[in-house]
Amino acid sequence: MSQITKICCIGAGYVGGPTMAMIAKKCPHIKVTVVDLNEQRIAAWNDPDVENIPVYEPGLSEVVAEARGRNLFFSTDVDAAIDEAEMVFISVNTPTKTYGAGKGQAADLKWIELCARQIARVSKDNKIIVEKSTLPVRTASAIKDILMHTGNGSQFQILSNPEFLAEGTAVEDLDAPDRVLIGGDSTAEGQTAIQALVDVYANWIPRERILTTNVWSSELSKLTANAFLAQRVSSINSLTELCEKTEADINEVARAIGTDSRIGPKFLKASVGFGGSCFQKDILNLVYIARTYGLQEVADYWEQVIIMNDHQKKRFANQMIRELYNTVNGKKISFLGWAFKKDTNDTRESAAIYVADHLLHEQAQIMVYDPKVLEGQIYFDLDYLGTRTSEENKKGVSVINDPYEACKGAHAIAVLTEWDEFKDYDWQKIYDSMLKPAKIFDGRNLLDANKLRSIGFIVQSIGTKS
Ligand code: NAD
Ligand code: UDX
Repeated sequence: MSQITKICCIGAGYVGGPTMAMIAKKCPHIKVTVVDLNEQRIAAWNDPDVENIPVYEPGLSEVVAEARGRNLFFSTDVDAAIDEAEMVFISVNTPTKTYGAGKGQAADLKWIELCARQIARVSKDNKIIVEKSTLPVRTASAIKDILMHTGNGSQFQILSNPEFLAEGTAVEDLDAPDRVLIGGDSTAEGQTAIQALVDVYANWIPRERILTTNVWSSELSKLTANAFLAQRVSSINSLTELCEKTEADINEVARAIGTDSRIGPKFLKASVGFGGSCFQKDILNLVYIARTYGLQEVADYWEQVIIMNDHQKKRFANQMIRELYNTVNGKKISFLGWAFKKDTNDTRESAAIYVADHLLHEQAQIMVYDPKVLEGQIYFDLDYLGTRTSEENKKGVSVINDPYEACKGAHAIAVLTEWDEFKDYDWQKIYDSMLKPAKIFDGRNLLDANKLRSIGFIVQSIGTKS
């Protein structure tokens, strides 16, 4: 295939939106159309005020502003965009199955299959199909099966091109990725397709950072990259409990470990537990795949990363209850942060949701402040758990858009997201407005504990004895 000039991306979410915006910015000669079934989401991507796009990421609105209307388009007309494209990215959600075989572990590939069927139905000519979603190893063969039975003679090449961006740093990650991974068939047609995608990325990414592999290695590398990253967080978090018992300080331990160049300093930040839409889902999927192949020890090994993470979230909530004299009934607890990490409005699998759920069981009154998460999302997250009715969630949780108001009259504050702005608050003012003794449970080890203690706060950080 000669140079690609028209790309379609199915799925305008946290991956499809930013990824395509960056391709459009870097490749003005390529028309990029991002489509989605969700009309509201597409309307938000098209909002004349670019600050209202549905994904919050530092620097993203500028990228969208530059390319939108020039060679970047957002639309709900999925058929038309597929029809005109030479290359179709599939960037739809692949959440953990909530029903049937593999419930709670396997990836739900319903939306992937629907995309494949739609591409098969609409296509009138040959196309390159790119798996951008994170998929179980060997999914490409299922997609191929569906596409090859269109009956109209169109030929398809399936590539795997998993996305490694992290939310909150998506623009930087897309602009200068550590690597881009492209997997494809070893046939001549497969290699030509790989080259067509390499040529797109080569518009801004040095060739040596574009890795090409077979399609199965590429699919599996994405799942395992996330598993390795999450494993580091669970490893450091597993030591926090030991530090709290022994008076070792987890921050010092992390620094000491991380300066070993074989280990490295990144992803050693102790926390209330990892969240986000990827880690848990992808590890569960890896566990499921291993079990499917009868690899019990492999499955158990990776499952432990999740078990540790669940333990950490529960441990944090239990510690709060214990330190608040074993009862939080009717007590006001302020949450600073609801997003699963800073610089994103994404709350999927955020530790805050589980900590809130645990405290609500104990009849606490929770006040939430987050700089970017909207009130409706917070109630949606709690309702989605299905633990209690939406009226009960509304009764137990108030969302307040001013941090000082959210902390007023509180028995305790829990820091659940590492937003930078929390560090700059007038903590004396917050202390003065709280019930005494005023307690802070810093789930991110974000705040300066010594400074807070000098004001009068009782501070419990993760992995240090209070
Ligand atoms: P998302 O839920 O934000 O977006 C997916 C979008 O696809 C939704 O807007 C949905 O309406 C749309 N969609 C679903 N089926 C469709 C169909 N048949 N036609 C048109 N639109 C359809 O999900 P996301 O976070 O962007 O993740 C997408 C994929 O990328 C997942 O497989 C995920 O594992 C992977 N991934 C995510 C991240 C991340 O940080 N979020 C990073 C790397 C990879
Ligand atoms: C992750 C991968 O990093 C990314 O490469 C992949 O494409 C998608 O999944 P994301 O989930 O967006 O990205 O964010 P990430 O920065 O990995 O953080 C995940 C969770 O781990 C967050 O809740 C974060 O707060 C937590 N974390 C991360 C820690 O608790 N400690 C750390 O040291 C690092």
